[in-house]
Amino acid sequence: MPSIGNGYVANGKPNSQLNRAAETADLLESVQQLIIPFIKAADDAAAHRASGILGLDANGEAQNILIDSQKPSELVAKLKFLLPEEGLGKDGLLQSIEKLLKYSVNTWDQGFMDKLYASTTPVGVIADLILSVLNTNVHVFHVSPALTVIEKTTTKAFANLFNFDGPHAGGISCPGGSGSNLTSLIVARNTLYPETKTKGNGKRDFVVFTSAHGHYSVEKAAMITGLGSSAVWAVPVDNEGSMRPQALRELVLLAKKQGKTPFYVNSTAGTTVMGSFDPFEEISKICKEFGMWLHIDASWGGSVIFSKAQSWKMKGSHLADSLTVNPHKMLNAPCTCSLLLGPDMRIFQRANSTAAGYLFHRGDDEEVWDLADLSLQCGRRGDALKVALAWLYYGANGFERQIDHAFDMASYLFRLLEESGDFVMVSSYPPPCLQVCFYSAPGGKLTSDKTVNTSRTQRIAHMLVGRGFMVDYAPGNKGSFLRVVVNVQTLEGTVEGIVKAMVELGQEISS
Ligand SMILES: Cc1ncc(COP(=O)(O)O)c(C=O)c1O
Repeated sequence: MPSIGNGYVANGKPNSQLNRAAETADLLESVQQLIIPFIKAADDAAAHRASGILGLDANGEAQNILIDSQKPSELVAKLKFLLPEEGLGKDGLLQSIEKLLKYSVNTWDQGFMDKLYASTTPVGVIADLILSVLNTNVHVFHVSPALTVIEKTTTKAFANLFNFDGPHAGGISCPGGSGSNLTSLIVARNTLYPETKTKGNGKRDFVVFTSAHGHYSVEKAAMITGLGSSAVWAVPVDNEGSMRPQALRELVLLAKKQGKTPFYVNSTAGTTVMGSFDPFEEISKICKEFGMWLHIDASWGGSVIFSKAQSWKMKGSHLADSLTVNPHKMLNAPCTCSLLLGPDMRIFQRANSTAAGYLFHRGDDEEVWDLADLSLQCGRRGDALKVALAWLYYGANGFERQIDHAFDMASYLFRLLEESGDFVMVSSYPPPCLQVCFYSAPGGKLTSDKTVNTSRTQRIAHMLVGRGFMVDYAPGNKGSFLRVVVNVQTLEGTVEGIVKAMVELGQEISS
């Protein structure tokens, strides 16, 4: 018979009494018994990482905590995930969650070194839970008063770190770095060419610049805004992967000569593959010379601002008109947590506000409290809370220590790879960010054959999964190379273990 936990009805009639608190407590307790072992398994496995091979469980079986790899068709069969007519209740729910955990990548595991994010933290889990319990929108103040104050306080604190320190400096949270970059492009266009807000791009042939190593979200933003992806011009980079300002200037002149309207430069702090930082001061001069908007995509590298040892990489950030930073990357906040910051939020409001009287019931306050007036989204999760609670918990000094540790791990990884003599490095030393890029080349000998190098890279990446490590690769001048990303939770033993594993696998492939 349907019960209250199975559709809020009993005997076909709505229940007159709600029992959600007890039901939530019951489910939380049961789910906790599944998720805590999931995290603990990753903690326990860390001790075996230095060996470069999988640890053994109590039965002497090799245990891969990171992933139970399945082909898509096998996974469909094993998950047997069906959406039923009649609810399966608590037992069905728990069984499905158990399988979901079993067949998911355990990003809490030290071996997850694939992407620019990794596991979240205990306080991250709590923040996500609180957002679910509140289940509100940060579009207007009156439905999310406390979250709105927290988002404004947090984005202002971040803005101040990047030296946006005017009275109206601040920001908004966006659903990911791509969303932040898109929002910045629209704010830029609507601000520099206000008629586009109502009339669209018109006959203007806009051009946007980003470095050849910039993230693809800039092209997507150009597609979405009707500029088209061909409006994005790639600026050549130097040997370190940083934008060459002189090349930017030449391209701007070329665009103007062709009757186009260059208006937006996306510079990057921590590129996706190499982790390089663009020279913001020099780029800003060119933007000022030609009246262009300077955006800094610091999705990945921006969090270095917390570290006295690393923050020089953000020199000139205050010259930007907008800046994206993703605490869900380097700071391990839960996905997604991205902030778009700027020196003056009144500019964001002018660019994005619409007169929706059914939502915004503005008073006389000059300060913007209804945050949807600044953003592209109406309903938005209060994502800023995820980094706000972590900041509260660890402090800015805690973030600094975490980031400094992660940079030490990246340098340690580089040194071990180089000392082994079995790799040819692509990254420079010390690595500019938390990824290290290199080719596997036993004895230090790399062929000039791109296909051979790419195939070797792919095989190593694939074989590493069997040893509980997951890494990615990217195309390079000599074929695809490996990219290993460390994070603030990476331990020394993990770095030692992955190098050991790659040396052994490299030799195995060659023999
Ligand atoms: C430099 C850079 N910008 C933007 C993004 C996009 O961020 P998101 O995945 O949050 O949309 C990424 C993602 O890796 C990135 O590396």
